Amino acid sequence: MRIVVIGGTGHIGTYLSPMLAEARHEVICVSRGMRQPYQPHEAWNAIAQVALDREAEEARGEFGRRVAELGAEVVIDLTCYAPSSATQLVDALRGRVGHFLHCGTIWVHGHSVLVPTTESAPRAPFGDYGIRKLAIETYLLEQAREGFPATVLHPGHLAGPGWAPVNPAGNFNLQVFSNLASGREVLLPNLGMETLHHVHAADVASAFVRAVEHRDAALGESFHVTSPAAVTLRGYAERMAAWFGREPHLRFLPWEEWRAWSAEKDARTTWDHIARSPHCSIEKARRLLAYEPLYGSLEAVEESVAWLVRKGDVARLPVS
Ligand SMILES: NC(=O)c1ccc[n+]([C@@H]2O[C@H](COP(=O)([O-])OP(=O)(O)OC[C@H]3O[C@@H](n4cnc5c(N)ncnc54)[C@H](OP(=O)(O)O)[C@@H]3O)[C@@H](O)[C@H]2O)c1
Repeated sequence: MRIVVIGGTGHIGTYLSPMLAEARHEVICVSRGMRQPYQPHEAWNAIAQVALDREAEEARGEFGRRVAELGAEVVIDLTCYAPSSATQLVDALRGRVGHFLHCGTIWVHGHSVLVPTTESAPRAPFGDYGIRKLAIETYLLEQAREGFPATVLHPGHLAGPGWAPVNPAGNFNLQVFSNLASGREVLLPNLGMETLHHVHAADVASAFVRAVEHRDAALGESFHVTSPAAVTLRGYAERMAAWFGREPHLRFLPWEEWRAWSAEKDARTTWDHIARSPHCSIEKARRLLAYEPLYGSLEAVEESVAWLVRKGDVARLPVS
């Protein structure tokens, strides 16, 4: 099939575009052409690159038409962040595409009530990003009920070699990994029992491939795409210390004290993660799409951190 991947050279696209090409699909990757995928793959030789600046084309009202003109049977949209972007694309693709897959986020959920959270849980997102992504999901599923062939996949926190994963303190400060690697103290908020739910980008890519392959079961549905189990901050810190061959030295502070101690940016990011403390079920994707992630949360993160170590961004210093 001819498949357009919008944003096909990023975290997910690095895996997804070659996977689709290897499955003998004709892949057209739409991006500005400003970045390379995180890893080389010989399948890229068979992938067509179309340079389009989505923002600029949307401002002109042309993006949907430009994508529709590519004549794909399947369109996978990895970079839609606003309901108006979704509307423009759907209006242009209605009646012209056999399957439209949107990349959402587990942040369409706010606080969970019952965990693991299922896709049918009532949505109560907070924060601009989650609210906008929910508006897109709601719109697409409404469109699906009217016959537009939409599917929504909601990844967890992306991990993989090439970028920093959310760390055991719930933010992106690499010092946390370096401290664990060096047997130094790491401060965690509260009791360290709030949760994160990572997923390897390769597993997200495989979920998109599965959804394309299981089109009929996927139509009009949304799916969580995470690792099989969430991690607690504390457990994540302990396991990473062990992975570095160190004893964990963890100390816990009540949130307000931890926030006052932490850099403001890190505290904001940590709050974003622990206020949601995601813990999602993937049973629906397993059942309907035969999604089976290859990576647990820790294995996914370890690939990212091994890359950070190789790059010299995370250092394992002698214990002082
Ligand atoms: N990051 C996470 O942890 C996370 C978690 C859950 C869900 N998600 C969802 O994942 C999706 C993002 O996927 P990703 O992380 O794989 O993306 P990404 O790494 O940010 O890659 C973005 C892709 O879009 C292209 N791009 C960026 N700006 C563009 C523009 N103006 N016009 C055309 N192409 C453009 C980039 O190439 P160029 O720069 O060359 O244009 C690249 O191919 C989003 O829908 C997000 O909501 C992310």
